[in-house]
Amino acid sequence: MTGFRAEIAIENIGRRGDGVAALEGGIVHVPATAPGDRVSVALTETGPGRFRGRLLDLLQAGPDRREAPCRHFAECGGCALQHLTPDAYGAWKLDMLRGLLARNGLDAAVVEPLHRSPPGSRRRAGFTIRRRRDDAIVGFNERHSHRVVDLAACPVVLPEIAALIAPLRAWAETALQAGDRADAHVAVTDSGLDLLVRTGARLGGAGRDALVDLLAREDLARVARAHPKREGAEVLAEARPVRAVHGGVPVALAPGAFAQATADGEAVLTGFVLDAVQGAASAFDLFCGSGAFALPLAKRGCSVFAADIDKAAVANLSAAARQAGLPKLHAEARNLMRRPVPAGELAGAEIVVFDPPRAGAKAQAAEIAASRVPVVVAVSCDPGTFMRDARILVEGGYRLTRLRPVDQFLWSAHLELAARFDFAG
Ligand SMILES: C[S@@+](CC[C@H](N)C(=O)[O-])C[C@H]1O[C@@H](n2cnc3c(N)ncnc32)[C@H](O)[C@@H]1O
Repeated sequence: MTGFRAEIAIENIGRRGDGVAALEGGIVHVPATAPGDRVSVALTETGPGRFRGRLLDLLQAGPDRREAPCRHFAECGGCALQHLTPDAYGAWKLDMLRGLLARNGLDAAVVEPLHRSPPGSRRRAGFTIRRRRDDAIVGFNERHSHRVVDLAACPVVLPEIAALIAPLRAWAETALQAGDRADAHVAVTDSGLDLLVRTGARLGGAGRDALVDLLAREDLARVARAHPKREGAEVLAEARPVRAVHGGVPVALAPGAFAQATADGEAVLTGFVLDAVQGAASAFDLFCGSGAFALPLAKRGCSVFAADIDKAAVANLSAAARQAGLPKLHAEARNLMRRPVPAGELAGAEIVVFDPPRAGAKAQAAEIAASRVPVVVAVSCDPGTFMRDARILVEGGYRLTRLRPVDQFLWSAHLELAARFDFAG
C-alpha cells in the first residue's frame, strides 16, 4: 500500500510519540498528530499491517492540539509532542508510564506527580554539522531520517546553547570542506559552556584556530576536539577549569562528560536519592558518572562505593573526594554490564543506587535482587528497560514503594524515572 493516500482519524499516541490510527486491519503511525485529529496522510508500509503516515493535511483538529511553539517542529526529529496542550502532554507521559507498570505487574498507585523541566532548560545538546558545497547546516536529524534540519532556534535548550548554533555554522563554513561531517556536543556546566567537536575531517591549523577563536568570542569555558573512531579528546583551549558542583563539592569534567539533561531534573533525582538514604551509613552508587549522587551521599557522612565504566569520570570523582576531605568515598572504573558488583559484596550496604544508560542494567539488577540490601533506588532514562530491571528486583523479593517521573526530556517521548524499592522478603 506504499505510496497510497488515506484519510484517517487519530485514536491515541504510541510509545514513540506518534499518533496512531487503525487502517484496514492494520495500524498507522503518523508523527505530529493528536487524538481526535482527522488527517490526510501518504502511507509507507513498514511491516506486515504496519504503516507510517506522512501528514499531508490536517482536516480537523482534535481537542488536545495546540500550535507548536517551535518553527522547526514536525520536521526536526528532536521533539515529538510539541503540538499537544501541556495538560494532554503530561497526561500522555503519565498514562504511558502507568500502562507499562500495569503490563509488567507493577503497582501504578505509587506514581508521584510528574516533575516538568521548563522550556529552555536543557543543558546539553548534540548537534550534527554537515558542510555542503556552498554552506553548512547545524541541527538535529529529521524523524526517521539522516537528513539534518538546519536550526535557526531551539526552544528546548538553554538560550546560551541555542545562541551557539549560528557561530558553529560559521565555523563549519570556514573550517570544513564540502561533504565533511562533525558533531558538536555542547554542555552548560558550572564553569560555563563546554564545547566538544567530534569529526573525522582534517581540520588543519586554520580550522583549529577558528575553534579556539570561538572560545573568546562566545565566552566558552573550553573547546576540545575528538575523532569519532578514537578514544579521548584533545583540549584545544580552556578559559577556566570545567567543573560540576555536586552536593557543594566541585568535580572536574572531562570533555563530553555525562550530565543529567536539566539542572532542575538533577536536583529532583538527587533529592529523591537523599530522601531514600536518610541516615544510612553505607551505600553503593553504581553507574555513578561524575558523582551527582555519590558526592552528596559522602557529604552526609555515608561510606560510598561508586563505580562507572568512564575512567576519566571516576578519576575526577576520586580527586574531588580527596580534595573535599571525603575519605569514605571510593570510586572504581568498572564495566558493570560485564562485571556487575556481586550480591555478596552489595549485601553489607544499607542502600544501593543504580542509574544505568538506556540499555538498563540486567546483570547488575540480578545481583542487587539477590543481595537483599534493605533499600534500592533505581534511576532510569528508559521506562522500557526500567520495567525489565524492576521485575528482576520484584522477583527477588523487593516491593516498588515510590516512583517519581521526571520530564527532563521535554516534548520527546522519553521519560526519566526515580524509583524506590524496599526489601520485603
Ligand atoms: C545515566 S548516566 C548516570 C550518571 C550519574 N549517575 C549522574 O547522574 O550523573 C549513566 C552512566 O553509566 C555509565 N555506563 C555506561 N555503560 C556502562 C557500563 N557498561 N559499566 C559501567 N558504567 C557504564 C556511563 O559512563 C554514565 O556515567
